[in-house]
Amino acid sequence: MTVPYYRDLLAQSDRIEAFRSSIREVVRDGDDVIDLGTGLGTFAFFAVDAGASRVWAVEGDPIVNVAKAVARANGYADRIEFIKGWFPDVSIPGKADVLIFEDFSKKLIDAHPYLLIKRAVSDLLKPGGSVIPERIRLMIAPLSSEEAWQKVAPFDGDEDQAYGIDWSASREYVLNTPHAVFLGPDALVGEPQVVLDFELLRLPDAAELTGNVSWEINEKRVVHGLLYWFDLELSPGLRVSNAPGESGPWGQFFLPAHFPIEVEAHQALSAGVGARDGLLAWEITCGEQRVRGSEFLAAPASLDDLFAMSPAHVPSLGERGELELEVLGLADGTRSYQEIAEMIRRANCDLDHDEALRLVANIFRGKIIRIRSSDVFKAEVEK
Ligand SMILES: C[S@@+](CC[C@H](N)C(=O)[O-])C[C@H]1O[C@@H](n2cnc3c(N)ncnc32)[C@H](O)[C@@H]1O
Repeated sequence: MTVPYYRDLLAQSDRIEAFRSSIREVVRDGDDVIDLGTGLGTFAFFAVDAGASRVWAVEGDPIVNVAKAVARANGYADRIEFIKGWFPDVSIPGKADVLIFEDFSKKLIDAHPYLLIKRAVSDLLKPGGSVIPERIRLMIAPLSSEEAWQKVAPFDGDEDQAYGIDWSASREYVLNTPHAVFLGPDALVGEPQVVLDFELLRLPDAAELTGNVSWEINEKRVVHGLLYWFDLELSPGLRVSNAPGESGPWGQFFLPAHFPIEVEAHQALSAGVGARDGLLAWEITCGEQRVRGSEFLAAPASLDDLFAMSPAHVPSLGERGELELEVLGLADGTRSYQEIAEMIRRANCDLDHDEALRLVANIFRGKIIRIRSSDVFKAEVEK
């Protein structure tokens, strides 16, 4: 991510103030705190302000270098240890009384962040420790919005024939896709309901994520799908909500119905949401009308693609894999990128020097830049 991205996060003042209040409430004098995904260090600084004696601020992105500079400039450096790396691969020297985590995605139940939070809570907390946020609720409500539905299902009937071509084979994929939206409360036909409720200290198995709710709809309406979002309870009474019309930065997902559902006054409407391997599935039932959607069906994968992703698939290295293996085998802790690239170039005559360097950089996910000694001198002086 870029530095402007992280500066933009600072503009989400409702989210940040809610975290700041919660950190003040939960962190006690002398606590050890871990801020997982610290970004510019914001919540680590708040933890020190709240009385933490040590904060481990973990961040995989190079933004951590900027966070360190901000910490130095504001007198926080002696109580915060910045740790560069991706949890769980990175080593963190201790456990925390308070774990702060904020890298949510709109959908929440993706492997990231769901499995990451589960792992962090079990590995990084002292017994009796607390997590911010402490609870997450997944919410749904029936949605009536011809406009939202037309946007995601534009090729209907005659329009499926646009430019004289029948596009209807692509429609199914769009209707099985959750669509990111920021809608107002007017579009809701029933009260929002909690479909899944997690305490972060006791997250269920990712395989068990299903919930069902129902409504009685007051008047005759047309339902175009479900609106899905999550609310964070940071600590008792402190919330960040993505409900329509609220200021939560993640907004909502529109889970479309395959066809608009006609609901009569006082008729019951029920809905279920579930997740498997981070993929959402949803169902809406009203009398005889039933629609289902599934992200699994939204993936434009052929049968061969699906088999290649199955645990039973037998992988083989191929030409590129053999080359990568050769490069990895040359990294013995003494050779530079340049030396490895040169050995690879000599062994594979069809690569030139720059191509070989690029290959090495890609394999080690490094960026090779040519540093002049004057730059190194300048960096030393600035330090
Ligand atoms: C949305 S930013 C939030 C930054 C900051 N906490 C804030 O609220 O302004 C989330 C950060 O978490 C970091 N992150 C996500 N997963 C991580 C992991 N497994 N280990 C370390 N950092 C991680 C990302 O690189 C990103 O910088």
